[in-house]
Amino acid sequence: MKILLLHGPNLNLLGTREPGVYGNLTLAEINARCAALGAELGAEVHALQSNHEGALIDALHEARAWAGGVIFNPGGYTHTSVALRDAVAAIGLPVVEVHLSNVYAREDFRHKSLLSAVCRAKISGAGWRSYTLALRFLVESLAEP
Ligand code: DQA
Repeated sequence: MKILLLHGPNLNLLGTREPGVYGNLTLAEINARCAALGAELGAEVHALQSNHEGALIDALHEARAWAGGVIFNPGGYTHTSVALRDAVAAIGLPVVEVHLSNVYAREDFRHKSLLSAVCRAKISGAGWRSYTLALRFLVESLAEP
């Protein structure tokens, strides 16, 4: 089983970016924790980060050829991107939307996600564990007949 772990804009700065909101772990550390959990659960986790909407769309399209599902933190594009929503809807793979922070406890503009309605599930506010919770959910649900 192969999973795409996709990170959107500004998440390359994790570790130094607003640590009170997003925690102290770097993106590389989060990716390593997901890879380790994936190995335990029998899944290969392939991580990719981009600050560019088009590159994220390309990664979602390409995932159709090799991935069983996607864990996606769209960052700020969550609240603005019709094109990413359309890509998620188009690929026909289960996508879990994740956020480190609890977007509902923050500014109003973060309460709206253009992607949630086309995602299989959404996990927000569990810090780096949002990713590992999403991974457990995805692997378990993909293993179900
Ligand atoms: C985020 C929440 C978004 O509102 C924000 O723009 C991000 C990170 C999160 O992981 O909590 O870049 O997706």
